[in-house]
Amino acid sequence: MRAFAKASLILILSVGTSFSQISVLKPAFGTHGMVSTSDSIATAVGVKILKEGGNAVDAAVAVGFTLAVVYPQAGNLGGGGYYIIHLKDGKNYAIDARETAPAAASRNMYLDKAGNVIPGKSLLGGLSVGVPGNVDGLLTAQKRFGRLPLPKVMEPAIELAENGFIVDEHLQEVFHHAQKEFGKFPSTMKYFSRNGKLYSKGERLVQKDLANVLVKIADEGRDGFYKGEIPGLIAKQDQATGGVITAEDVEDYHAIVKEPLMVSYHGYEVMSMPPSSSGGVCLAEMLNILEHFNLQRYGYGASQTLHYEIEAMRHAFADRDKYLGDVSFVSVPLKRLLSKAYADTIAREIDPFSATPSIDIYPELIHPPHEGTHTTHYSIIDKEGNAVSVTTTLNSYFGSMEVVDGAGFFLNNEMDDFSAKPGTPNQFGAIGAEANSIEPGKRMLSSMTPTMVLRDGKPYLILGSPGGTTIINAVLEVMLNIIDFHMPLARAEMAPRIHQQWVPDVVYYEPGALVYDVRQSMISRGYKLVPREAIGEVQAILVTPEGYEGVADPRGPGDAEGY
Ligand code: DON
Repeated sequence: MRAFAKASLILILSVGTSFSQISVLKPAFGTHGMVSTSDSIATAVGVKILKEGGNAVDAAVAVGFTLAVVYPQAGNLGGGGYYIIHLKDGKNYAIDARETAPAAASRNMYLDKAGNVIPGKSLLGGLSVGVPGNVDGLLTAQKRFGRLPLPKVMEPAIELAENGFIVDEHLQEVFHHAQKEFGKFPSTMKYFSRNGKLYSKGERLVQKDLANVLVKIADEGRDGFYKGEIPGLIAKQDQATGGVITAEDVEDYHAIVKEPLMVSYHGYEVMSMPPSSSGGVCLAEMLNILEHFNLQRYGYGASQTLHYEIEAMRHAFADRDKYLGDVSFVSVPLKRLLSKAYADTIAREIDPFSATPSIDIYPELIHPPHEGTHTTHYSIIDKEGNAVSVTTTLNSYFGSMEVVDGAGFFLNNEMDDFSAKPGTPNQFGAIGAEANSIEPGKRMLSSMTPTMVLRDGKPYLILGSPGGTTIINAVLEVMLNIIDFHMPLARAEMAPRIHQQWVPDVVYYEPGALVYDVRQSMISRGYKLVPREAIGEVQAILVTPEGYEGVADPRGPGDAEGY
């Protein structure tokens, strides 16, 4: 599957997109289960757990812990994540395992005396770290919805940490990019380099301290991570590099089980993540707006389709930045934002030809541009129809770049997802407002969008992506490709994407997304077009009458496998 995928991507990028070439990307197929992740070792672990009688939740938990070992750039114990779970009895759940601001965090912690944001302070080292949540997310999912004993589910991750795995080209490359930052943290160099040289392709990476932490979790459950020595080790590491996390912050952390956010779209039920992520709200708003337009008639890639998609993106992101934040701390007008009536009003105001200048929507919040991009998504379904969609992250690749000495895992740099100063863009250019300002214990706003599309109450499409703010649009576009444009799954994922997020007022497009005359049309409608490399990396599963199809986005190193 991978060989096909990589070969076809190279072909397509070098000679231009044509659907006959796209069809070279074959989905994995299975009738008993399907696992699609960013890493072939993690995918194999998920399939193994399904084959050994685990359900989709067991497999998702096994994959989550495995990614923390073999995909340290985004898989994690020291980060956060979101889980969308559908059980075969028809019940649906969302788990919010997003990091929180430490108790000593404060609104202006990233500002200088003049009130300006100090560049980098929320991105690198101690102060950038939010209180880790992902382990409690994994354990909550396992305890409530898993079937196998926890030690069994964690066995593959422990084995991979204890005995090591072979570093591949992708990991070598991301290590290489992080080399300079790793050098700033002795604990990071201790675990990921030998004689001062970072691990490279073909070498075996053994992580004994990480294995010990995993064994503690397997033996003691939540207490193995949130009590005992780990909270103290996290606090010590964080404070040594200027952070304020205490052992109590870690001990007090709890994931929250929530109702998933539901929206209908052309007869499908779309289930996604409610706040503290903005993903579900934005996706719902965009779908509600787009339901007003006959996208199927215009077709994929037509300037009229793109116009309506972009306008829907622009309005949803404007509302994201103005209104959204942690609902345990701020009041968010969710009912209004999610209502069909609100979308009707917006849809009616969209000019059928011309772009809406972003400045016309909430001008008081507008700011100059910025950019940036790792996170990881996995989708799993078992033979009974239990399904899980998980997106988890350290925020940037390797998060804060610092590893907890004595424990061997990276700490996130998720604090950058708060609005350090309302109106000032974060690394993804999201500007945020008062609703996303920093408060102790608060969850920072996310764009992660683990999603499931249900048909007649059963999973039809399971998907999600990394990519910061581009996540929401990547998920939307793959969904539209399937629901509106009737593309097969592989083609739906391959199809070049665009991205607009209100601010900056530009439209990013992947190679091949806008052919010449479409570009001309978009420019004449008032759009500013900016070419860009890969937008998102969608790991998806489609349920067909024959069985399960799985595709790992060829934009990344992932792998889908069924049986
Ligand atoms: O929660 C968020 O929206 C971001 N911290 C996600 C970061 C991300 O996807 C980076 N990956 N490319």
